[in-house]
Amino acid sequence: MKDVHGIAAPLVAWYRLHERAFPWRTDPSPYRVWVSEIMLQQTRIEAALPYFERFMEALPAIADLATASEDVLLKLWEGLGYYSRVRNLQKAARQVMDAFGGELPSSYEELITLSGIGEYTAGAIASISFGQRVAAVDGNVLRVLARLTNDEGDVMQPSVRKRLAALVNEIVPADHPGDFNQGLMELGETICLPNAMPRCAECPISEYCAVAGTERAAQLPTRAAPKKRRTEKRTVLTVLSDEQPPRVLLHRRESSGLLGGMWELPNLLCGPHDLAISALLEQWGACVLSREPAPAGKHVFSHVEWHLNGLILRVEPFDPPADYRWVNREQLNEYALPTAFRLYAGALPQLLEEEVQ
Ligand code: ADE
Repeated sequence: MKDVHGIAAPLVAWYRLHERAFPWRTDPSPYRVWVSEIMLQQTRIEAALPYFERFMEALPAIADLATASEDVLLKLWEGLGYYSRVRNLQKAARQVMDAFGGELPSSYEELITLSGIGEYTAGAIASISFGQRVAAVDGNVLRVLARLTNDEGDVMQPSVRKRLAALVNEIVPADHPGDFNQGLMELGETICLPNAMPRCAECPISEYCAVAGTERAAQLPTRAAPKKRRTEKRTVLTVLSDEQPPRVLLHRRESSGLLGGMWELPNLLCGPHDLAISALLEQWGACVLSREPAPAGKHVFSHVEWHLNGLILRVEPFDPPADYRWVNREQLNEYALPTAFRLYAGALPQLLEEEVQ
């Protein structure tokens, strides 16, 4: 087996033949690479593509991102999840406007000082857009490296990540480090596939791999079992005003925590028959005219699972508290309701139609 330090040349040669033409590759300007890397942290490449194009069209420069309204921003991110990422993106854009004259800084050391830019993203931007000789180690790269070196450490452990990242930092070449880093990612995405799927026969660096073609390849990397998610029982209220056409009551979540600052359908941490629901309605001063169940559903976040019940309540219009708002069908389009509410939000356009007598 050849020394793993020799992979750069064959990997880069392979990447240049096989790289897929994504829009952040055909034009790898720092802003585009940055936005794409943040999107790719939470979704597959194919799913990210339409989001990326739409984002770049709406906010073509860092200055546009820095000054975008929160509504526009959340709408562009709607469906991608983890809204804190797009909030950090804007925070960093403002830092760039204030401290770097509107241009992303070119070094890893400066990039990593920006909001939401960690070791991976700083490495990706510095190497891909600025040609800095630095590693960019994501989950794909960890898998490739664990297999190349037959490292049985748990890749969720910071010490193991550190060890593998240090090795990549030794290997990354000064010449086209971005192609090398993207080559490792691309290899992980198309050849050195997870679970029992590695396609070692097609791998351009199998001669450097400690486990190529063996059963061991399928067993690596080692990952500790993930922590069990908490479950929460919630009841989602679709509160409709008794008007023609009706309006629906939306609630703005507290600015910190899960889905912080997002508009949502009001919901309570209880079952659909719990007294807490009547108590809330009473607190609003709402006069309930009818009450019917909506389907049950489930939404899985990374650390918590919502087990949902729904209630559709028709009420006499009332003046809601400050963090609530009545919204008609047209206005609804301006709100990016989190995907967790899709089951109930999907029914709203019809529920908000004017009733034909
Ligand atoms: N995954 C995340 N970023 C990537 C990139 N630049 N190339 C390939 N796969 C990626």
